[in-house]
Amino acid sequence: MKNIKNKLPLLIFVLLAMWSCNTTKNKSQKPYEAKMETFLDSLIQVMTLDEKIGQTVLFSAGWDVTGPTLDKNYVAYLKGGMLGALFNVNSAKGSRAFQKIAVEETRLGIPLLFGYDVIHGYKTIFPISLGEAASWDLDLIQKSARISATEASAAGIHWTYAPMVDIARDPRWGRVSEGSGEDVYLGSEIAIARVKGFQGDDLAATNTILACAKHFAAYGAAIAGRDYNSVDISERELRTTYLPPFKAALDAGVATFMTSFNEINGIPSSGNKFLLTDILRNEWGFKGFVVTDYTSINEMIPHGFSKNEKQAGEQALKAGVDMDMQGGVYLRNLKILINEGKVSEKEITQSARRILEMKYRLGLFDDPYKYCDEQREKDTQYKLEFLNAAKDMAQKSMVLLKNNKQILPLQKNNKIALIGPLVKDEHHIIGSWAAQGDRDGKAVSVYEGFESILGGIKNINYAKGCAVIGNDKSGFAQAVRVAKQADMVVMVMGELEDMSGEAASRSNLDLPGVQKELIAEIKKTGKPIVLVLMNGRPLTLEYEDMVADAILEAWWPGTMGGSAIASIIYGNQNPSGKLPMTFPRNVGQIPIYYNVKNTGRPYDINGSEQKYRSRYIDVSNTPLYPFGYGLSYTTFKYANLIIDKKEYNFSDTINVSVTLTNTGIYEGEEVVQLYIQDLVGSVTRPIKELKRFKKLMLKPNESQKIAFTLNVKDLAFYTENMKFKAEPGAFKLFVGTNSQDLLQADFILK
Ligand code: NOJ
Repeated sequence: MKNIKNKLPLLIFVLLAMWSCNTTKNKSQKPYEAKMETFLDSLIQVMTLDEKIGQTVLFSAGWDVTGPTLDKNYVAYLKGGMLGALFNVNSAKGSRAFQKIAVEETRLGIPLLFGYDVIHGYKTIFPISLGEAASWDLDLIQKSARISATEASAAGIHWTYAPMVDIARDPRWGRVSEGSGEDVYLGSEIAIARVKGFQGDDLAATNTILACAKHFAAYGAAIAGRDYNSVDISERELRTTYLPPFKAALDAGVATFMTSFNEINGIPSSGNKFLLTDILRNEWGFKGFVVTDYTSINEMIPHGFSKNEKQAGEQALKAGVDMDMQGGVYLRNLKILINEGKVSEKEITQSARRILEMKYRLGLFDDPYKYCDEQREKDTQYKLEFLNAAKDMAQKSMVLLKNNKQILPLQKNNKIALIGPLVKDEHHIIGSWAAQGDRDGKAVSVYEGFESILGGIKNINYAKGCAVIGNDKSGFAQAVRVAKQADMVVMVMGELEDMSGEAASRSNLDLPGVQKELIAEIKKTGKPIVLVLMNGRPLTLEYEDMVADAILEAWWPGTMGGSAIASIIYGNQNPSGKLPMTFPRNVGQIPIYYNVKNTGRPYDINGSEQKYRSRYIDVSNTPLYPFGYGLSYTTFKYANLIIDKKEYNFSDTINVSVTLTNTGIYEGEEVVQLYIQDLVGSVTRPIKELKRFKKLMLKPNESQKIAFTLNVKDLAFYTENMKFKAEPGAFKLFVGTNSQDLLQADFILK
């Protein structure tokens, strides 16, 4: 407590109270917890109402603008003891300056908490979160979060607004890029990996930060994929699909939750007691604090849920919001609400205490400046091992969608043309929400990646051809000329980074601008086309699938993106990514996802396309590329799917094994996926649900027996009367390479 120890008399009282009470208050608590409780009790006792309210106030320092409003008076609030946290301060020097004001110029010297959107890297940028999810590599995902936390904490940041754990089944919604895709199980596993990565084992270590599970809840279910839009959802669907990754994050120890912008069934999330108190606190036992999303308390007025700011503040506090991000509603209204008897000081104390607890756990009361070391900041950024990890992650996140006649990997003596608006890009390649990643000059472009792998530029001809957006075709002729001189063409195309992410919903998911037309022109040259895509969401690629010889989905691959792409294209690395989201054929199929219900008139993939079935008359029900899909340069064979019994009791373990053989000529990684189907339930069940997966590497001709175990909990669901349990009956179990190509076995649960 060295910094505070020297401060004002009141605090000395607090600390004396604490030290005089160093025996555990409650013998069953661990000494650390007991000490913390004593400290917080003592601190709370000497805090004024204003100071308690101050802890619930969070403002952006305005260094990055991530929402429509900025309140520039935050320094005045800080000096008045009316600010608990700041976000978007992103340097050790900057955070030290603000921390100094908090410690030296406020009555109690309570340190500030610094938050920031560290989503897929801080300086060293990893692939966008959806790309990382495509790796299905939980260890690497955890490592990526660990590195992000290491860099961010060295720059004075205590708290990231990640992971985003929103399940998303509508690629029109731009924020699919920030999450882990459409699946509940995969999404939950990734949520755990990211929380562990950010928070590490010890929050007080200088290289760990608080994580934040966001956006609570069902933000990804926004109607028509339009950002911020309403959500209308049954409780069963909410609990089955949207809540499990939040629960997984909580079980992994996530320190904070963020509310979502949307309303759910008429109640905005920031005023939603059912979500924030009944479920989060009472049912799940969450002990951390809840922050709103940016001005989302204020937004309850246009939602039509609150008649004014004061009422919105009351509703938010009563619902269970502890901290108000950027809205100033708590700052301006909580005291008035107390005076009017609408809220109690006890409620405010509780929120303030939850926030103070996190400051304590970070060790800020021991040393408020422990994250403000400029030398450490310098030494920690862009370390070689971080860049290598980012390249590794980028390679593993890429999904090979097509590889006709094994055109890939390319041979180094192929004379290639690099064509497209993103060949030399160093800006968009790191994607949206790229924190402090340098956009120009640091990221490796595709051109540079090719240059370095080929040891010079002698075999590369380049033409930009067109921009990502706009109608200008004046570069087409040059692109065609360049293509004609080559043996084959690698086209690098996609979206601009701000076409996905927040406030970036699209109603058309084709490649934007005239990119498709450029492909058509190049196609006329007869040269083979390898299409490399950089984008933040599933796109509609029917045309590209028809004309390109190979397609590599590279997402926004991050700082080492160009290098990773080149190493895949030339076979230094075998692609192993699998889609975490279904790619539709056209926008009309959306929402499209693998674990649908059968309906009473199921569509038969193999049968004739009859009328009076649940189908479209102008497009197949099948996606262009299904969930879990991704090719490799090698081939894998699945055989001998065995389950150890035909019938299981509720207490049994279900043992499953399958033999996987690498039947091709390259060493490669495969993601073995296990799905189940419960054939009959008290409520209908999806045709497939992912329950396990394993990623493993096999050498050519190598076989491995892979074992999975399931238990009855894995078969459970929200039954007719909303009990989460399994029901006896017949099940199918599937194992295979994606959600469509699977071996099948059957069993009975008795
Ligand atoms: C709004 C976004 O919805 C949220 O994800 C983000 O953390 C905040 N702004 C803060 O930047």
